[in-house]
Amino acid sequence: MSTSQKERAALAALELVRDGMTIGLGTGSTAAFFIEGLGRKIREEGLEIEAIPTSQASDALARKAGIELIIPDETTVIDLDVDGADEVSAEGHLIKGGGAALLREKIIARAAKQFVVIADESKSVTELGAFPLPIEIEQFGFALTVRALRDMLAGEGHEGVELSLRHNEEGSFVLSDGGNFIVDAKLGRIREPVALESALNMIPGVVDCGLFIGMADQVIIGTADGIDTRR
Ligand code: 5RP
Repeated sequence: MSTSQKERAALAALELVRDGMTIGLGTGSTAAFFIEGLGRKIREEGLEIEAIPTSQASDALARKAGIELIIPDETTVIDLDVDGADEVSAEGHLIKGGGAALLREKIIARAAKQFVVIADESKSVTELGAFPLPIEIEQFGFALTVRALRDMLAGEGHEGVELSLRHNEEGSFVLSDGGNFIVDAKLGRIREPVALESALNMIPGVVDCGLFIGMADQVIIGTADGIDTRR
């Protein structure tokens, strides 16, 4: 069986796991390789690990892999958090939220002593923005929040940007695990990610956005024949 770039990055992140750790489990197909590998490692090496999943999907995968789970409020320490990304810039800034789990992912990443991003080469970009930026929005006052969002973006040089309310394949709205809508903003190019994150998160009704600025302690990119690690 050939190892994919995503799996290679996930396997490299497993090397950072130590007995007794509390570990954040990200969401998505790359994080799924880490979760499956972690379950195997715990069984094979008899490790005592507690984990915190960042989504219902990762919760289900972790249970299947036999990993002991806790809720965030059961610990004050998260030693390691391993998660995927939709884009990783040259500076290590991220776009996340392709799996609609951005808020829980950000809470756990912020709290972790070490936040490690695992991704395949396609996620590595010079500048963020080709991937539509996920923005999590409270249902109450949704249309008002989107109007405020549009006005703010126009003021920041993103005039007429396409904002799409995320739907699933059956045509229903996608809701985050917290019950919020997800809007995807086609920005094309994000020149000032730091300023944009603050401006977005200042809008009442915006719960959070998928910009993860300066949060990654380490980025592991799986390549065709190995890994490329950035700190
Ligand atoms: C979920 C995420 C994922 O980490 C991101 O979408 C990458 O997914 P994948 O590993 O499937 O490419 O942010 O909210």
